Amino acid sequence: MPQTTLGSFTIGPIAYGCWRFAGSTAAEAQEKIETALDAGMTLIDTADIYGFGQPCGFGGAEAILGDVLAASPSWRERMVIATKGGIIPPRPYDSSHDYLIAAAEASLTRLKTDVIDLYQIHRPDLTAPVEETARALNDLVTSGKVRHLGVSNFTVAQTRALQAHLETPLVSTQPEFSAVCQDPVTDGTLDWCSETGAACFAWSPLGGGRLATATPRDEKETRVHAALARIAERLDADISQAALAFLLKHQANVIPIIGTQTVSRIRDAAAAATLEFTARDFYDVIEAWRGAAMP
Ligand SMILES: NC(=O)c1ccc[n+]([C@@H]2O[C@H](COP(=O)([O-])OP(=O)(O)OC[C@H]3O[C@@H](n4cnc5c(N)ncnc54)[C@H](OP(=O)(O)O)[C@@H]3O)[C@@H](O)[C@H]2O)c1
Repeated sequence: MPQTTLGSFTIGPIAYGCWRFAGSTAAEAQEKIETALDAGMTLIDTADIYGFGQPCGFGGAEAILGDVLAASPSWRERMVIATKGGIIPPRPYDSSHDYLIAAAEASLTRLKTDVIDLYQIHRPDLTAPVEETARALNDLVTSGKVRHLGVSNFTVAQTRALQAHLETPLVSTQPEFSAVCQDPVTDGTLDWCSETGAACFAWSPLGGGRLATATPRDEKETRVHAALARIAERLDADISQAALAFLLKHQANVIPIIGTQTVSRIRDAAAAATLEFTARDFYDVIEAWRGAAMP
């Protein structure tokens, strides 16, 4: 399995996401995390809000991952834990200094760990002064509670504004990115990653499942699905694997975060990293989305 970098860490090329993980029983959670780690998905992405609106509530997904670690403490060394804070329903966002410090400390408690490897601002808070948000993040790193910093759902301009006040480099950004959501290819996000060496975590890399289940929303998605189906057939792969391979083909450090809760699909997804997905395949998917050939 090829490896990639995230700040000081070496991680697998595909990450495992815990958004849909919140309803898992202890045994199910244990099996999913073990399967992901065994498949080389060494970055586990979660957030304090995952579980909100479900019986386990705000913090629920982090607490389940914390219980997994308590049951199997040796797995902590095998995994890089990424979590997020800054969404607080119904405000909706809070990146003020005191809130972020308290949120990160609560995440540490739920995760049953003494350090968060990657702490990400989940969404930009348009009311918090950026210097104040940066001061909270600097304090979290200085105090040793957080190793690296990242952002999610930030524009490149918002990312640069925050970076200007940080004492350490942002090592990642996390936009929605898939064959049916190609904005990061053209909005400068991936170029910022290339410029800085940061990773681009692609959330909902299968369009939240639409690519896997062949349920396109419109004509554009129908074209993309057809292109991926043709490529997948040639590669003797499934559409999900081809959709992940598309993301991995970009020259920037793109790391899809898969969200399946089906153990066999976690295993199957890992094969995407070794498919012979060509540059021609990549442009076929880009052109299917554009509805026109590249100029
Ligand atoms: N930063 C943010 O704002 C943000 C937002 C959303 C997500 N995320 C991150 O991204 C991660 C992934 O998001 P996601 O769950 O939307 O990703 P996804 O991988 O695009 O979608 C997962 C969904 O697709 C289904 N699926 C996967 N493979 C399938 C297959 N072969 N056949 C049929 N259905 C299939 C899954 O169903 P099964 O579970 O039944 O297999 C699941 O419902 C999250 O866990 C989270 O870490 C971040």
